[in-house]
Amino acid sequence: MSALLEVSNLNKHFGGLHAVRNVNFSVERGEIVGILGPNGAGKTTLYNLLTGFIAPDPGASVTFDGHKLLGLAPHRIAGLGISRTFQLCRPFIGMSVLENVIVGALGSRRDHGADLDARAQALLGQVGLAGKEGVPVEVLSYGDQRRLEIARALAARPALLLLDEPFAGLGGGEIADLSALIRQVHADEGLTVILIEHKLREFMRLVGRVIALDFGEVIAQGLPEDIVRHPAVIEAYIGRDATGTEPAHAA
Ligand SMILES: Nc1ncnc2c1ncn2[C@@H]1O[C@H](COP(=O)(O)OP(=O)(O)OP(=O)(O)O)[C@@H](O)[C@H]1O
Ligand SMILES: [Mg+2]
Repeated sequence: MSALLEVSNLNKHFGGLHAVRNVNFSVERGEIVGILGPNGAGKTTLYNLLTGFIAPDPGASVTFDGHKLLGLAPHRIAGLGISRTFQLCRPFIGMSVLENVIVGALGSRRDHGADLDARAQALLGQVGLAGKEGVPVEVLSYGDQRRLEIARALAARPALLLLDEPFAGLGGGEIADLSALIRQVHADEGLTVILIEHKLREFMRLVGRVIALDFGEVIAQGLPEDIVRHPAVIEAYIGRDATGTEPAHAA
């Protein structure tokens, strides 16, 4: 069987900045793949390209589950089974927690009415937000917002979940909880997951394979334990201490 996601010859220029550079990789069904790279490496831009938020330079090819994605609008790509979370939480302000999850499912057309409501309730339980269904999103704690973000992404029943720094801003206990949640949805829902993260300790335990980026380019791919020792990866992090980037060993 072919890979779930196949990316080839992906490039993106923002004016003179080559933000994503000749990126090629594939992801098999059921994998948890980590994307590692210092600030500005092009990680979020990669997600924006995969989800149709921005268009790549000509010549690229992205295939998901047999569908060619390039040129499709974000809602079409979501409808094919790719959900994402955002680096900065983007809840729908003015709606309740439950309404936020239901909105997340609307594009998928897989659940309707009462089913949708029940699925949203179940997801909130799964992410640890049971009892907070009616709460306005703006009063949620930061950690709860990150959980809601995942419930919202899962509501559409994706086959591929793209997480953009889900642990950012969380404390140790919250990171462990969220990590367990990601592992659980991966196992329960048969999800394939791609995870961008700087917090290396949990990241290393969670992912089966790592793709390391620097200046938009894939500089290493392989097992997590090999990647953190890879000279190019160490150089990418340590080489930038002076610019204020958090070095890998401090994460
Ligand atoms: N819409 C845009 N217009 C112009 N430049 C952009 C745009 N989006 C990203 N960039 C630039 O592209 C480069 C890669 O940005 P990106 O956000 O993908 O990095 P990142 O790896 O996600 O970094 P971080 O770890 O800080 O989130 C950066 O130099 C950024 O300033
Ligand atoms: Mg980013």
